[in-house]
Amino acid sequence: MNSKVIIRNTDVCDIKPLIDLQKRVYPTIPSWREDLLRHQLEVFSHGQLVAEINGQLVGAASSLVVSWNEWEVQHTWQEITARGSFDTHNPHGLTLYAAEVFVNPRLQGSGIGHALYQGRRRLCRKFNLKRIIACGRLPGYHHYVDQMPVELYVQKVIWGDIHDPVLSFQLHEGFNYCGIVSGYIPEDQESLGYAALIVWLNPRYNRKKPTLISEGNSL
Ligand SMILES: CC(C)(COP(=O)(O)OP(=O)(O)OC[C@H]1O[C@@H](n2cnc3c(N)ncnc32)[C@H](O)[C@@H]1OP(=O)(O)O)[C@@H](O)C(=O)NCCC(=O)NCCS
Repeated sequence: MNSKVIIRNTDVCDIKPLIDLQKRVYPTIPSWREDLLRHQLEVFSHGQLVAEINGQLVGAASSLVVSWNEWEVQHTWQEITARGSFDTHNPHGLTLYAAEVFVNPRLQGSGIGHALYQGRRRLCRKFNLKRIIACGRLPGYHHYVDQMPVELYVQKVIWGDIHDPVLSFQLHEGFNYCGIVSGYIPEDQESLGYAALIVWLNPRYNRKKPTLISEGNSL
């Protein structure tokens, strides 16, 4: 890809194109509502990122901050994001929870996802957050469901014997696999509702310093 990808904070005027793009990425999963995206921006604008090339929106990454100890491994997307409102955002938490990431299907595989993940890692460093946690979809699993349980599928992805369009990418982005979550997005037919719980630890996290979010810092 020759054109430069710019990662910047989401603006209110990005909401409509962002929903249009999301519908193209997930034709079978209900897209976000405009009012929820507006609310996400009110709750934690720093966590909402878009990727643009030549002024065109080509991807997005949405995050909130949670106190991970208050959550179980088995949780749903609806629960941890308060049905997409991000009302579960906790400025005293240490964990950036990666709620969504997507890239224009025509441009996938050209480094935009990597740029969005770099944006998230920058957020962690800037706010002195300890880690990023996410539940990654497993969109390749429906091809293997008749051959193996989901745990073996994920092991084979980790061993490099199977390429999953999402988990392989996330492992290459430095995330570690922590377990399977079932019923995470029940409508996700490709992943059969399964997701891989993954974590990236911020090597620059300083536990002697507060997170800049809880300080009320307006970075
Ligand atoms: C997952 C997703 C966000 C990744 O975004 P992306 O822009 O395709 O990511 P990148 O281009 O940075 O990397 C994807 C792959 O392309 C490779 N790649 C990147 N630039 C490349 C280039 N110039 N030449 C060749 N390969 C390249 C990367 O190494 C990576 O390979 P890997 O999967 O083996 O790790 C994207 O595929 C997507 O939107 N998927 C659908 C939505 C979704 O399921 N989101 C996840 C929610 S949990």
